[in-house]
Amino acid sequence: MCGIFGYLGNKNSLQACLKGLKQLEYRGYDSAGIAGLKGGKLYFTKKAGKISVLEEKISLQNLQLDLAIGHTRWATHGKADDENAHPHFDDAESIALVHNGIVENYTFLKEMLQKKGFIFRSETDTEVIVQLIAYYYQKNPKLNQAVRKALKEIKGQFAIALIHKDFPDQIIAATRESPLAIGYSDDRSEVLISSDPNAFLDEKLHILFLQTDEIAIVKKDRVKVFDKWFHPIVKATELLDSGFEPATKGEFEHFMLKEIYEQPLTIQKTLLGRYSEEFGTAELEHLFFSSGELQSVQHVVILACGTSWHAGCLASLMLEDMARIPTHAEIASEMRYKNPIISKDTLVIAISQSGETADTIAAVREAKSKGAKILGICNVNNSTLARESDSCLFLKAGPEISVCSTKAFTSQIALLSLFTLFMARLRHLDKEGGLHFLNELKKIPRLVRNVLDNAPQIEKIAKKYSHFPHFFFLGRRYMYVTSQEAALKLKEISYLNASAYPAGELKHGPIALISPHLPVVAFCANKQTYDKTLNNLMEVKARGAPIITFAPHGALEIERIADDIIWLPATIDELATFPSSVAGQLFAYYIAKERGTDIDHPRNLAKSVTVE
Ligand code: G6P
Repeated sequence: MCGIFGYLGNKNSLQACLKGLKQLEYRGYDSAGIAGLKGGKLYFTKKAGKISVLEEKISLQNLQLDLAIGHTRWATHGKADDENAHPHFDDAESIALVHNGIVENYTFLKEMLQKKGFIFRSETDTEVIVQLIAYYYQKNPKLNQAVRKALKEIKGQFAIALIHKDFPDQIIAATRESPLAIGYSDDRSEVLISSDPNAFLDEKLHILFLQTDEIAIVKKDRVKVFDKWFHPIVKATELLDSGFEPATKGEFEHFMLKEIYEQPLTIQKTLLGRYSEEFGTAELEHLFFSSGELQSVQHVVILACGTSWHAGCLASLMLEDMARIPTHAEIASEMRYKNPIISKDTLVIAISQSGETADTIAAVREAKSKGAKILGICNVNNSTLARESDSCLFLKAGPEISVCSTKAFTSQIALLSLFTLFMARLRHLDKEGGLHFLNELKKIPRLVRNVLDNAPQIEKIAKKYSHFPHFFFLGRRYMYVTSQEAALKLKEISYLNASAYPAGELKHGPIALISPHLPVVAFCANKQTYDKTLNNLMEVKARGAPIITFAPHGALEIERIADDIIWLPATIDELATFPSSVAGQLFAYYIAKERGTDIDHPRNLAKSVTVE
């Protein structure tokens, strides 16, 4: 995890680094730090807390650095305090290093270095890298060689940037299975290094991406890249004209609320220009598989994590229901170690908002090594997933800033609905069936707007239940996945315990939990399973639990059972997640607000998880 940034150029390096780090804060915000060189001296500041805390401290010192590297951390090894914050240093404080990733053999290396007299000041795995470089540098004062030797010893995955006070004009950057981009301006007046090219705000830059085990020596007027044998290599560059406008909250109190309210528009953008009424099907640009290839798909495996995995679970239900293709959605971190069965007839769909989630990328690489074709579903252009997929469809939802995913989720399911329609039309679905689905899909932005109009009622109900420490979510079929996603939202931003279960499984164990102290939140918007869900709710009611339901208008039987009802506009079962989820997002948001949590930056989380 973590974000790393480096700057070398005509602008104020410290300010440039702070600006870059703020764009990377979504990767972790436990602590942050910057180190830089000025007149052959090494300066640094690091601090537990968000980048704003670091910024306050740094402005007091008013450093004017020649070049700088910075870091925003999501703690893996060692708690989030000043000492464990990056950069880390060798004993002599000649080298400063920032790191994203995990050193798997750090205990072994640390003990080895301690025996040689190296003193460690932090609990991090990162400190091992910088001390190991210093160790090799002491033996032979050639910095590039020392870096190369040290990295050869390290097991694990990393992206690093480092500076040495005896080399006042260079930053060394290296990576293994972790994204690291280097961008330089046309006139070579500045070079930027970042874990994510989207941090290259307002810049028109030539970008190159380091690949595994490549090392770059970055100077202002040139970037030299070497392979793992330290042979120079020529890297292709692409021009990135980000034209990026920093996102603002506008009139909203939180980015999360803003993004919830953007959904009628973002879903519309995902759908726009991607269907044909004439043929009752989807038209997906960037789908580079031929109809023949897609017709011969016998099996679909979906890979994703977190909220994206929930989108994948919904897509697996849809693809089986409508396109009749056996499909299963795998949690990416689990799939990797399963030795998955992938044949030439398997299509692998990888879903990731950021396109950088390490577990998803690792699973994609595993599937590719088995010969699978990869279809990426992603929100971020230039991301690792976008680059590594055979075909990548973009959400077009715009940057999602809040850590808790909302608009990306509804855009994912909108895009996956289109893909399902496309696959279904290629196979079993007739034009009339296709048109019916399409027409329902086109209504979704309006239905979501109706849900948003009902926000005051949702807020009232959320406040009423906000003092409960535990919640139990129920649903069946599409509504089961919807309840999982709604429970995840609540956990993430309110820190409350919320578990989701298929309503039919209640009687096989969890019913023991049911009591007047456990509110049960039921999603009831699937017609196919509506009656059965009501029966389950009767069982809950008989045991005295408060019941909150998310139900479509007209589901009047619910009134006899539920204590509170959040009414939703009705749609077909396959698409009922849209209004239900948006209402679930608002429910979680208002509970978290009432409890006073840090909604856009919930504790311990990061927007993009770049460690496995
Ligand atoms: C993190 C975020 C989640 C997100 C998951 C997958 O855990 O906190 O909100 O769903 O990563 O992210 P991705 O970018 O791959 O969709």
